[in-house]
Amino acid sequence: MRGASVVGLGYVGLTMAACLADRGIKTTAVDIDKEKLDMLRRGIVPFYEPHLQEMLAKGLAVKAMVVTDNLEEATRNSDVMFVTVGTPSNPDGSINLDQVKAASTGIGSTLKKTPGYHLVVIRSTVTPGTTEHLVKPLLESTSGKSCGSDFGLCVNPEFLAEGLAVHGTMNPDRIIIGECDKDAGDALGSFYASFHGQRMPSLLRTTPMNSELLKYANNAFLATKVSFINSLASLCEQIPGADVEVVAKGIGLDPRIGPLFLRAGLGWGGSCFPKDLRALVEFARAKGEGLPVIRSAYDVNEFQPLRAVRMAEHLIGSLRGKRVAVLGVSFKPETDDTREASGLVVIHGLLREGAEVTVYDPKAMQNARAVLGEKVRYARSALESIEGADCCIVATEWEEFRKLTAEDYAKRMRIPSVVDGRRIYDPNLFKSKVRFAAIGLA
Ligand SMILES: NC(=O)c1ccc[n+]([C@@H]2O[C@H](COP(=O)([O-])OP(=O)(O)OC[C@H]3O[C@@H](n4cnc5c(N)ncnc54)[C@H](O)[C@@H]3O)[C@@H](O)[C@H]2O)c1
Repeated sequence: MRGASVVGLGYVGLTMAACLADRGIKTTAVDIDKEKLDMLRRGIVPFYEPHLQEMLAKGLAVKAMVVTDNLEEATRNSDVMFVTVGTPSNPDGSINLDQVKAASTGIGSTLKKTPGYHLVVIRSTVTPGTTEHLVKPLLESTSGKSCGSDFGLCVNPEFLAEGLAVHGTMNPDRIIIGECDKDAGDALGSFYASFHGQRMPSLLRTTPMNSELLKYANNAFLATKVSFINSLASLCEQIPGADVEVVAKGIGLDPRIGPLFLRAGLGWGGSCFPKDLRALVEFARAKGEGLPVIRSAYDVNEFQPLRAVRMAEHLIGSLRGKRVAVLGVSFKPETDDTREASGLVVIHGLLREGAEVTVYDPKAMQNARAVLGEKVRYARSALESIEGADCCIVATEWEEFRKLTAEDYAKRMRIPSVVDGRRIYDPNLFKSKVRFAAIGLA
């Protein structure tokens, strides 16, 4: 085998390239962003993902990994090419396939110049039909070659979670192969069999259409589960004596439901759930289907972060001129990704109410500054952010925030009051020392 290549070095692609190199596969990692490439060549990961920095440095040092903008070199030096470019939202919510189109056109023209069979694998999240009706014709027209005989094409959706990306890539719970033809599916199946060896996970081979749809179904289901428990949380807040944590624990013990993704909080954000749900709803609308359950899950999530603002008002009255600390602007712990983060929605809500906001996040300060600029103040630690504050809202469940005690808040704040948007504190310990409100608790 010549090696593998990965096109598009974001959270998904860079993690994949580093993991392939770590298992001894010669990997060519391609991107078009010159600034990003410069950093990567110097061994610097331009975002925070646990373990990735060490793996990149090692891959480059042992020359298992090359970082380049040269697609031709990547095609020449690999038999399998994974496409991991971004698929953001258009303003109407539909999927924007510009990066997929550009990558397919580029790959096709390099296939034209490269002899031998090559396998192209779409790993980006794309709406059903994209691989067969957009990628395949583009590859064929630009390469002058035939899919199925001269090159193979598969869809192979990625299910990793940011913050756990390396572990997720090394130990996926399943592999889905949507094959345009059997030879392509065989080739990708063998690739993964040798990559995972004895620890090969469950494998499902199916059509590209099913693979593309099930990736969206997966995210839509998880997001719906969270919105479901958040709806119950809102009800619990109106019933003295009720606690959504206990309700979630009880229903999570039913094996038909399960405990995961049943944590009430300020809702889901990130680079996947919001854009994927929008893309699925928009795709379905064009087919004449409304997907009311999924639309409702999205609607619940739109308002969920703002519940924290209402709770802050309930605790300290009008927020105008008040100093509010927001802990956490990454969309979840162990990442610096602030895309569609609930914390940002909270901050914008507070600013609209006239509050003065101080922000702290262990990893996402740079990304927060890029979005919020001079509109807020930035603290260097959680303790500094609550110093003299009138209220604190916990928006991300970073471990560092869990360690703060009720006494820490009581000692430092002007009006000691805490809104626990992620249910990280024991209400019994907090309620006696500070004004306290939590999602899903009356
Ligand atoms: N981030 C996640 O947790 C996650 C999880 C599962 C699936 N996905 C899906 O995987 C895909 C990638 O996600 P991401 O978060 O890594 O995206 P990203 O936006 O972080 O990175 C995309 C990268 O592709 C590069 N790129 C764009 N056009 C290119 C081209 N023509 N040639 C080479 N490189 C190009 C960009 O410069 C960028 O570095 C998306 O479809 C996403 O929905 C993401």
